[in-house]
Amino acid sequence: MNLFDVYPLNDITIVKAKGSYVWDDKGEQYLDLYGGHAVISIGHTHPHWVKRVEEQLEKIAFYSNSVRIPLQQQLADMLGRVSGKEDYQLFLCNSGAEANENALKLASFYNGRKKVIAFSKAFHGRTSLAVATTDNPNIVAPVNETGNVIFLPFNDEEALEKCFAEQGGAISSVIIEGIQGVGGINVADDSFLRKIRSLCDEHGAVYIADSVQCGYGRSGKFFSHDFAGVSADIYSMAKGMGNGFPVGGILIAPKFKARHGMLGTTFGGNHLACAAALAVLEVIESEKLMGNAVMIGKYLREELENIPGIQNIRGRGLMIGFDVPEAMKGLRKNLLGNQKIFTGESKPNVIRLLPSLALKKRDAEDFIEAMKEEVGLMQNANA
Ligand SMILES: Cc1ncc(COP(=O)(O)O)c(C=O)c1O
Repeated sequence: MNLFDVYPLNDITIVKAKGSYVWDDKGEQYLDLYGGHAVISIGHTHPHWVKRVEEQLEKIAFYSNSVRIPLQQQLADMLGRVSGKEDYQLFLCNSGAEANENALKLASFYNGRKKVIAFSKAFHGRTSLAVATTDNPNIVAPVNETGNVIFLPFNDEEALEKCFAEQGGAISSVIIEGIQGVGGINVADDSFLRKIRSLCDEHGAVYIADSVQCGYGRSGKFFSHDFAGVSADIYSMAKGMGNGFPVGGILIAPKFKARHGMLGTTFGGNHLACAAALAVLEVIESEKLMGNAVMIGKYLREELENIPGIQNIRGRGLMIGFDVPEAMKGLRKNLLGNQKIFTGESKPNVIRLLPSLALKKRDAEDFIEAMKEEVGLMQNANA
């Protein structure tokens, strides 16, 4: 049987990983500044995470949500404390798309409305509602086109105000990434998030903070939306939450009242997923990884500013993007091929850095050296 060929692959087989490094089947070592797409939050195969998952595996890996799973409450308590959203409620699921799907659905249950506002270049996942709010026609199937999603320009307060003035009573929710990931590391303005908060309050709409990629400490705050100083009604999470173990969830403001059967999942919140997610939070806290993300992120952004040709360096914490000019469009490929460094990309010309939040200064220095070398070589070749 063939695999359904949907992924453009690098011809590399990774067989081992530790911290910010991975190794291929030929023993070649790579520095991982991509984190398997922002998933590796505390470092590959972190010993505390491995131990907690192994110990849980010996006891029980899975039982359904038809019985009490005390690990879920432990996770909720710790998430409340670390995120500062102690009065919120937790619903657990398995992925980012599922988290957003549940967030959008919950908003609609709450206010009985159908319309959703999303923004240009947004990515919210590939399930039906999540993909309908994603600004990429290539991945939206005809069945996903409900006509309920209004796309507005990102960071455009006037357009948002106009939309609410015209259709406010029909708007169920507004969904926004605090920092757009797939769209190319575009930071939502603090004032724009505050405007979303006030318009949602005024019109009875729900503010959904998609924190799947920009959340879990990556920005230096637990949720990057927190920089705006206002709270969202629902936060969706996944990626960094399990450090590679598939787990997602939504944090739900107190005003939402649950009823049995309203949301549900077979696998969500299983014992192993909770153990992995608890291990991640324990390490984020004990190793002060949000502080590290701020410090190393600042260093990287400052150093990148000194590299000629690299443009528009942006982001927060360890969620960084920069533009590569047309003459250097092979840079990401060369970083991987020549320097053995994984980075992320956003089409057409953005390099994204999404490393583990535990990235060490010397690894960041190595990356900057590698960048200087590759950029120098490309500039000489173009001279
Ligand atoms: C902001 C954002 N939301 C949602 C998703 C979807 O997450 P998943 O692939 O876990 O379904 C992604 C994935 O890249 C994302 O970046």
